[in-house]
Amino acid sequence: MYKIVSKRQLNPSVTMMEIEAPFIARKVKAGQFIIFRIDEKGERVPLTVADKNPETGTVTIIFQAAGASTMRLAEMEAGDEILDFVGPLGEPTHLEGYKRACVIGGGVGCAIAYPSAKALHEMGCKVDVIAGFRNKDIVILEDEFKAVSDNLYITTDDGSYGEKGFVTNKLQSLIDAGNEYDLVIAIGPVVMMKFVCEVTKPYGIKTIVSLNPIMIDGTGMCGGCRVTVGGKIKFACVDGPDFDGHEVDFDELMLRNTFYKEEEKDHVCRLGLGGHHNA
Ligand code: NAD
Ligand code: FES
Repeated sequence: MYKIVSKRQLNPSVTMMEIEAPFIARKVKAGQFIIFRIDEKGERVPLTVADKNPETGTVTIIFQAAGASTMRLAEMEAGDEILDFVGPLGEPTHLEGYKRACVIGGGVGCAIAYPSAKALHEMGCKVDVIAGFRNKDIVILEDEFKAVSDNLYITTDDGSYGEKGFVTNKLQSLIDAGNEYDLVIAIGPVVMMKFVCEVTKPYGIKTIVSLNPIMIDGTGMCGGCRVTVGGKIKFACVDGPDFDGHEVDFDELMLRNTFYKEEEKDHVCRLGLGGHHNA
C-alpha cells in the first residue's frame, strides 16, 4: 500500500499529493509517469510525476479531478493509502545540452512542464516559462515556476491575470523580440501543443511535447496509446510520453482521444484493467 503523505488543493479542481514511494522517488526523472490504482476495483490511471524527494521517499503528483478515479483520489486525505503506485514508466525527457529553453505549460499541463523546467534550471540552462490558463481562478504553480525560471510569463485567455492571450501569442512575441531558444517544451491540451509546434517549426526550434493518449497497461502490450510520429507507429507508454512535436500527427491524436472519450462512457473492461487518459 502507498500512503498519501500530504494533500494540497491548487485550485478548485486540481489537487497536489505527496505519495510515499521511496523506490520511485529515487529513480524517477522528469517526463516519466506512474500508474495508480486506488483499490482492486479501481481503474489504472497514468499520471506524470510532478516532483520527487529522494530524502523523504516521496513522489508528488498533481491531477485534475476529471474521471471517476481522480475524483475518488481527490476525496482521499493525508494518511489514507492506495493499492498500487507503479513506476517510473516511460522514457525521461532528454534535457541535456541545451542553453536557452522556453518551457510552456497549458492549464493542468503545467504540472508536467514543471519538472522539466526545474531539471533544466538545475543543469544551468536559461529557462523562460510561459504558463497559460483560462482565467485567474485556476492559475497553479506560480511560485514554483518562479523559483526555477529566469522569466515567468503567465497568460490568461480572458486577460484576468498576467497577459491576455494564448501561450502561443506570448511565444511568438518572445521569438519576435529576439529570444533565441534552442529548445521549447510544450505540455498541455493537444490543440495547444499542435499550435506551439506550428510557431516553432519555421524557426527550426527543437520542440518536445508530452502526449496523453489513452493508456491501459502502460507496458507496450495493449496498443491503446498508439500515436503516429514521423510516419511511424509509436506507443506513448514505452516510446514516450515525450516526442519531437514537429513529427507528431496531432490531428490523429485528437481524433483518437475524442473517439475513446465516447467509448469510455459505456466501457466495461473484460480484462479488468480499465484505461484512462494520461493527465
Ligand atoms: P485549457 O483548455 O484551459 O488550456 C490551457 C491553455 O492552453 C490556454 O490557456 C491557452 O494558453 C492554451 N491553449 C488552449 N487552446 C489553444 C489553442 N487553440 N491555441 C493555442 N493555445 C491554446 O487547459 P486545461 O483545461 O487545463 O487542460 C485540459 C486538457 O489538457 C485536457 O484535454 C487534458 O487531457 C490535457 N492535458 C494534457 C497533458 C499532457 O500530458 N499533454 C497533461 C495534462 C492535461
Ligand atoms: Fe498499452 Fe501503451 S498503454 S501499449
